[in-house]
Amino acid sequence: MSVLLETRGLHKRFGAVVAAKDISVAIERDSVVGLIGTNGAGKTTFVNMVTGYLKPDQGSVRFKGRDVTPLHPRQITRLGVGRSFQIPQLYDSLSAYDNVVVALGIALRNARPRWLARGPRLVPGYGLPLEEAAEQVLERFGLAEFRDRPAGVLPGGVRKLLDIAMTLALKPELLLLDEPTSGVSSEEKFAIMDRIMRAVRGSGATVLFVEHDMDIVSRYASRVLAFYDGRVIADGAPAEVLADPDVQLYVTGTRTTAEGAGHADD
Ligand SMILES: Nc1ncnc2c1ncn2[C@@H]1O[C@H](COP(=O)(O)OP(=O)(O)OP(=O)(O)O)[C@@H](O)[C@H]1O
Ligand SMILES: [Mg+2]
Repeated sequence: MSVLLETRGLHKRFGAVVAAKDISVAIERDSVVGLIGTNGAGKTTFVNMVTGYLKPDQGSVRFKGRDVTPLHPRQITRLGVGRSFQIPQLYDSLSAYDNVVVALGIALRNARPRWLARGPRLVPGYGLPLEEAAEQVLERFGLAEFRDRPAGVLPGGVRKLLDIAMTLALKPELLLLDEPTSGVSSEEKFAIMDRIMRAVRGSGATVLFVEHDMDIVSRYASRVLAFYDGRVIADGAPAEVLADPDVQLYVTGTRTTAEGAGHADD
């Protein structure tokens, strides 16, 4: 198994709050990792450090064996790390189609310069002109029916999907999703995750997703990381982590006393 992402001893302090304490994890290629933890546990801080939006006070981030800690988020994106935010980052006045065109335009701009290109310019990873690649992305995410609607008027779940479609459109090798189903009704959650995971499998990306809904975590993750107070408190198969006494006490709330916590064999 090859390690795609490795963090070593990540530490991050915001004033009196320590949001990351010695976080060392390795993510294997082709895994689907669920990241769980209560509000303020440090999940977004971790995603921000991996993607260059925040610099750790100590520790390092390695992607495909390369130290990316000092790099700018844009450079990390170019190396093959895509991310979505807790709140979709869309151009609300543009149509769904135009949002995807903008995202793919970035991929095109990152490719060889215009003066080197011969004939029609093809989007890297698609072998298609921009317009056709955008239609393909909408189709794959079941978004074709929303093609011409401004992103600002789309329902919450569709906005989430469009945002993730735009991230995955750049064909990242590692995709980090910060709460892909937040703000979405519980009936819609599974449908959205099904769409995302189907598209992810088609693209071959490795995924880490932050999630509060344990049913979603159990269904889609092959491995679960549990954070509490800036630390990793459990790491393993979903059933194992969700049965962990510390996780039940500090994350899922299915255990209300410390009795038994810290003793996995209880
Ligand atoms: N830029 C910042 N400045 C100051 N404090 C911050 C900053 N970012 C995060 N924090 C603090 O760090 C801690 C971890 O925050 P983080 O956003 O990583 O949590 P989270 O696990 O993503 O929570 P949630 O589930 O609510 O999204 C919190 O106490 C938060 O208030
Ligand atoms: Mg968060």
